[in-house]
Amino acid sequence: MSEPTTEHTYEIDPALAARWSPRAFSTTAELNQDLLGPAFEAARWSASSGNSQPWSFVVGFRGDDVFTMLTDSMNPGNSVWAVNASAVVASIARTHNDEGEALSHALYDLGQAVAHFSVQASANGLVVHQMGGFDATALHGSLGLDDHHAVVTLFVVGTLGDPAELSERLREREAKPRVRKPLSDFVSGSVSYP
Ligand SMILES: Cc1cc2nc3c(=O)[nH]c(=O)nc-3n(C[C@H](O)[C@H](O)[C@H](O)COP(=O)(O)O)c2cc1C
Repeated sequence: MSEPTTEHTYEIDPALAARWSPRAFSTTAELNQDLLGPAFEAARWSASSGNSQPWSFVVGFRGDDVFTMLTDSMNPGNSVWAVNASAVVASIARTHNDEGEALSHALYDLGQAVAHFSVQASANGLVVHQMGGFDATALHGSLGLDDHHAVVTLFVVGTLGDPAELSERLREREAKPRVRKPLSDFVSGSVSYP
């Protein structure tokens, strides 16, 4: 099983082209600190406003307490498939500095770091599925965060599993072609893309 049908107007790097968000994860594949290392290193080297690096990540592996805490906070529609992944990560933004001033680009910077992570993971043969469907307030409390930090997304990481093991509804979603707006919808100025 590979990713669903995708079309490209221009060739892109294979790691970017291969990245997608599956729900079928191998329940036997295991990850560990070393196997996730390159993806976190990629996140480390993403750009950020004033090099503020306003991101942090909390990682759990399937079977451990952190994994259970993070997957328990997910909406049921996400946890039903996400519990099969090998690892789960909470992405956290530092939203305010020590003086209490808002770091206005923190969410942008965190998103870039997660994008770096997901592309490096893809280059290493892993799959990542990000999600906003979880109880961020409850998780903020369970992680003991202060009000200068916010849990922004969770994402699961693993190896592609067998979609036949998903429910019929999820299997149908999994097989749907991946679609995007054309370049002409969102790029303008001195260019004219199809
Ligand atoms: C911030 C964010 C929140 C998302 N939330 C969810 C979610 O709660 N559940 C889910 O199944 N997918 C979620 N996704 C995955 C998107 O649906 C997916 O990235 C999008 O449909 C594009 O598909 P692709 O990643 O395969 O290219 C989220 C992605 C992002 C970046």
